[in-house]
Amino acid sequence: MRALSSLLVLVAVPAALAVKTQDFKTCTQAAFCRRGRALSARAQENPSWSSPYSIDPSTISVLPGQASFTAGVKSLLYPDVKFGLDVRVHKDGVVRVRMDEVNGLRKHYDEAASWALIAEPDISPEIKWSVGKSDVRAVYGDKKDIEVVVAFQPLKVTLLRDGKEQVVLNGRGLLHMEHFRTKESAEEKLPVEQPQGDDSQVVMQVNSRAWFEGETEDGYWEEQFGSWTDTKPKGPESLSIDISFPNHGHVYGIPQHATRLSLPTTTGENAFYSEPYRLYNADVFEYLADSTMSLYGSIPVMHAHSAASTVAIFNAVGSETWIDVAHPTPRSTETHWISESGILDVFLMPGSTPADVFGQYTRLTGTPALPAHWALAYHQCRWNYVSSDDVRDVQRRFDLEDMPVDVFWLDIEYAEEHKYFIWDKKYFPDPVDMTRDVEAVGRKMVVIVDPHLKRAASYPVYQEAQERGVLVKSPGGSNDYEGWCWSGSAAWVDGFNPESWDWWTSLFKTAPQGDKWTWTESTVDTYIWNDMNEPSVFNGPEISMPRDNVHYGGWEHRDVHNINGMLFHNMTFQALKARSDPPKRPFVLTRSFYAGSQRFGAMWTGDNLGTWEHMAVGVRMVLANNIGGFSFAGSDVGGFFGNPEPEMLVRWYEVGIFSPFFRAHAHIDTKRREPYLLDEPYKGIIRSLLRLRYSMLPVWYTAFREASVTGLPVLRPHYVAFPHDEAGFALDDQYFVGSSGLLVKPICEKGATETSVYLPDDQVYYDYFNHYAYRGAAKGKHVTVPAELEKVPLLIRGGSIISTRERPRRSSPLMKYDPFTLRVALNAAGEAHGELYLDDGVTFSHQDGQFIWREFVATSDKKARGVRISSRNLAAQKPSEAVDGVALATYDIANSFVKEMLGVRVERVVVFGLASKPNKVQAGGRDLYWEFTPGVTASEKRQGTTSVLVVKDPDLSVTSDWEIVVQT
Ligand code: NOJ
Repeated sequence: MRALSSLLVLVAVPAALAVKTQDFKTCTQAAFCRRGRALSARAQENPSWSSPYSIDPSTISVLPGQASFTAGVKSLLYPDVKFGLDVRVHKDGVVRVRMDEVNGLRKHYDEAASWALIAEPDISPEIKWSVGKSDVRAVYGDKKDIEVVVAFQPLKVTLLRDGKEQVVLNGRGLLHMEHFRTKESAEEKLPVEQPQGDDSQVVMQVNSRAWFEGETEDGYWEEQFGSWTDTKPKGPESLSIDISFPNHGHVYGIPQHATRLSLPTTTGENAFYSEPYRLYNADVFEYLADSTMSLYGSIPVMHAHSAASTVAIFNAVGSETWIDVAHPTPRSTETHWISESGILDVFLMPGSTPADVFGQYTRLTGTPALPAHWALAYHQCRWNYVSSDDVRDVQRRFDLEDMPVDVFWLDIEYAEEHKYFIWDKKYFPDPVDMTRDVEAVGRKMVVIVDPHLKRAASYPVYQEAQERGVLVKSPGGSNDYEGWCWSGSAAWVDGFNPESWDWWTSLFKTAPQGDKWTWTESTVDTYIWNDMNEPSVFNGPEISMPRDNVHYGGWEHRDVHNINGMLFHNMTFQALKARSDPPKRPFVLTRSFYAGSQRFGAMWTGDNLGTWEHMAVGVRMVLANNIGGFSFAGSDVGGFFGNPEPEMLVRWYEVGIFSPFFRAHAHIDTKRREPYLLDEPYKGIIRSLLRLRYSMLPVWYTAFREASVTGLPVLRPHYVAFPHDEAGFALDDQYFVGSSGLLVKPICEKGATETSVYLPDDQVYYDYFNHYAYRGAAKGKHVTVPAELEKVPLLIRGGSIISTRERPRRSSPLMKYDPFTLRVALNAAGEAHGELYLDDGVTFSHQDGQFIWREFVATSDKKARGVRISSRNLAAQKPSEAVDGVALATYDIANSFVKEMLGVRVERVVVFGLASKPNKVQAGGRDLYWEFTPGVTASEKRQGTTSVLVVKDPDLSVTSDWEIVVQT
């Protein structure tokens, strides 16, 4: 095996990588953010502040069919500059507000939404715009309870429900779209004519543009950060908009930040943070565990929530954006969004529930792709497994220790001189054989491919990219940009160039294709990790690309920075999909992301530290990503940096097994920490944890099916699961898994032996492991749950049925025909419900109806004084809701996947909370074997170990309808 020391010599970590927070801008160091915040400060100080933007009523035009209305907008300060407004209501009630400069000197970037959206949304046919003297309005919704009002002077957009303001744009008058100007004209801060006529009603106490834009031209044409000069050939073009939620006291979302889920304030009295939340995809070395700083991805989506309603906004902007948050009162929220460039393109999602909002967002940007089943299992990564033999050895050690694992990962050292795709043959002489060895037990390999291409004559991928002209250009747009990354001098693939897509796809072909370079030294079961796609550039400003770099179409990097990572991810996703026919579901992990990235794979929270704080904030970050529609998320188990003590490592596995994406990873300088290396009891505990994750794969897969169809997240914080329970709105250290009824509270502190878990409702919650029944209360209640090292606090809410598979296997594909256990957790009424979704987990055949979707229902049977537990075919009942993107008119109950699974049994049914010992347990008139342990029943008010009925091997198929009758 290759010695680690030799590897360390190989990897010279560039000095530039040792960045500190001071290597990233604060708002005051970004001219447009300074300008935006200064605007807000002036507005704050001036009680008669009023937005200079107004609609010219004579320009209002309602488009044929009332599809939308457009209007001319002008600013009192620049009467010659024209803006166009377009307001439309989509079929599902989402309001889109778009504003752009008309006939300006240049064009503002207007393509962010087209990258994020799956399609141009359908416009509501029911809208009737009524144009009044001072506004345009429309009332809509099933109950005619929603109203959108666009006021003329000043311009203001309000979304109301039942007469209550839900979202207000420009209510505080902070809208400002800096128009394009010439350097000369910009120098004049001309006095403004005193308003005349209608305009005189606008309360303006000042008569200079400086009143609005500030005294000085701050960083309009050039700006300095450290040794970097950002030239701005287009001049100022920033965009400021205030978005208020006058009746919502909590806001969530706008990942990615290492912070709480309910976003703390950044302005106003007692602001929690002093910096706005920043969205500027960045490779932040050793990031802080509590900060508004930018991280690797940006989803400009925010939920606003109260006990009465949930609403959300999606601000489709691709440039750097800063967001201030304030609560003028505990029950209201004001936000201010300041972006470097782009048009105003904001989607207002009316809710009114969290589920509605997820549906509305999903119809815009798509649901999460249904992952391959194996991708939900355990991933073992490290920087680096250093040779083929090393990979084989790691696989052998997992097998020897009976620890399940599905995926082995290779970081950048597999690639000769960090030329991605090109194996370093000295250490990986037999890559295809190595991959086949891994595949022999159903496992997979994931190999890293970054977007920087080593500028080397010997690197065919770079050569082809250069020849095809698909590389990002340096300022001016004539030359390919050169920067530094792992490979040394590098160039970057430009995903905005349509030419790069087919070419990128061709690289991943496993068969030779003429004189084109293809990856013949890989298999169709080699999957991909896209890292460094913010993009990370070691010698660039803020460890990224200069903003004045040029992409296809002449757009500057500043315009598209936050979208860049998603495009690379998408390109790789498409490439993997095209690798085989019929295609297999791709798996691509990305570090950088944007709105819509959920369609292409998984993300992780980047280079976290091996500390308890990072473990805890990782949970919150993954929750925030779920709010942003990107459920397939996780953090490096163990922490990327550092050498976690065994206790911490165990706790980190406990976090990992309850994360949608579950991967252990470690920095090259860390000690080896594969779980088999630990001493007892830690090794045994992790073995059990891994097995627990594997046993629950049906729960995860079922939750992912739901997410892939409805957009409801896989992890659900309390405000999503219990939207009316105020006590849960700020909770972010415990959450529910899908609709399963599983409530988890991972332990992220040293030495814990118990923890307090919040129960939101008057329901019984059963401890998954010791069957202790806890009682919630109507107004919520905290209970103390044991949490010794080997125990993750995990409760099943009464009323749920959980499906698991409990045969330990080496990898998840080997579980395909394993039998199921059903845990029926009765509620006080003696009832429960659960779902199970299964398909081949690999191909897209589910889209042709090849799947099993069952509903398990327990009803209380008064006559028999017992319970009936039945299995029904949900797919036949709701074929059109089964699979994303495909409306199956009918469902063939005898589809070939069902046929293949006919022999898969339910081997055990465990019922919690039964009222008394059964007399008889039968299925189809057959007596079944059972055991009963008396205990606390579901309807009792006391706490204690619950009664447990175990029905053994009822000999029922998971594919068919059946009923178990429990008579007591
Ligand atoms: C940075 C990534 O965040 C990390 O996970 C990876 O190990 C290194 N790049 C090397 O590829």
